[in-house]
Amino acid sequence: MKVPFADLNIQHQQITKEINQATNNVIQKGDFILGEDVDLFEKEFAQFCNSRYALGVSSGTAALFLAVLSLGIGEGDEVIVPAFTYIATALAVSYSKAKPVFVDIEEDTYNINVKQLEKAITKSTRAIIPVHLYGQPANMPEILKLAKKYNLKVIEDAAQAHGAEIQIPEKNQNVWHRVGCLGDIGCFSFYPSKNLGALGDGGLISTSNEDVYKKLLMLRDYGRVSKYEHAIIGYNSRLDTMQAAILRIKLKTLDAYNQMRQEAAKVYNNLLNNLDGVVIPYSLSSVRHVYHVYAVQVVNRDKVLQRLRENDIGAIIHYPTPLHLQKAYENLNYKNGDFPVAEKVAKRILSLPMFPFISKEQIEYVVSVIKKAI
Ligand SMILES: Cc1ncc(COP(=O)(O)O)c(C=O)c1O
Repeated sequence: MKVPFADLNIQHQQITKEINQATNNVIQKGDFILGEDVDLFEKEFAQFCNSRYALGVSSGTAALFLAVLSLGIGEGDEVIVPAFTYIATALAVSYSKAKPVFVDIEEDTYNINVKQLEKAITKSTRAIIPVHLYGQPANMPEILKLAKKYNLKVIEDAAQAHGAEIQIPEKNQNVWHRVGCLGDIGCFSFYPSKNLGALGDGGLISTSNEDVYKKLLMLRDYGRVSKYEHAIIGYNSRLDTMQAAILRIKLKTLDAYNQMRQEAAKVYNNLLNNLDGVVIPYSLSSVRHVYHVYAVQVVNRDKVLQRLRENDIGAIIHYPTPLHLQKAYENLNYKNGDFPVAEKVAKRILSLPMFPFISKEQIEYVVSVIKKAI
């Protein structure tokens, strides 16, 4: 049996007709840049995550970078980022000339450790970028408290967590909040394999702050205030109309597909629970994890990964090297041992096949190979 890491074909076959219609429509209208579908998708996504504004941009990385710029963060400023995430979270800070300051993660959720976070705050700290890693909300109640206490901005990196939800006791214990609408700004990626993926690059910024929104409108489009009038140094970072048209179709199935991922995670959890040498994902009852990635910790990870691949099973390591040990960041002078949890997790973590249409038989096959390998 073959089990790919992710299978986008099944999803796309179901909506081929709709995609053809929508893209033909864009071709006929010819509004390829910031066309009607961008506008409509932004409205629909803002409604989906309950924020006042949403703004389509060219990628998740662009979303993060423009978010940092829109808050006036730059040279001499520090921004706190987890040591264990995709590098784009930190790159966005570096592009702005501010300094990323890394913080270790929690051993159970793999998200930023809020106790360590408070210790990393200095006079130069301007913002925190919590990452909802693998689709699991970070500890937003505590992060929002710290941000208030130290007057910091919060930019959520929700690139892996479209539709994930969390309860915030201080707001209303019974309400579920989508991630990306809790901090000052939320950033999403529509990289094709994401829970909501385009057929190419794409990203989105959500905010409920009107001033920030207005600044972002200029930043993504050459600093424009009218066709040839430019008020600030802006960028060309727009979401293509074609991608927006496709994303509008896919947004309609996002909640259902997230539920299918949650069901698949349950099947994995039941089969892997109590297996010596394997740690299954952990989540609090106050969060709804959307399993962009189903990651387990395994003791002899590299051997297990090799066996999975030999048996036609797609498995990936997210991520083999924490950010403080990346060559790109050697100028920051971190060293081995600075973030022991991130370092330990990087040696043991393994992402198993996960996509909405993965079958029970495919999951059982993956687990049987893991059991033999262990
Ligand atoms: C946590 C995280 N942040 C940011 C990004 C960057 O998104 P993109 O690839 O759309 O630039 C990604 C995705 O790859 C990601 O996983």
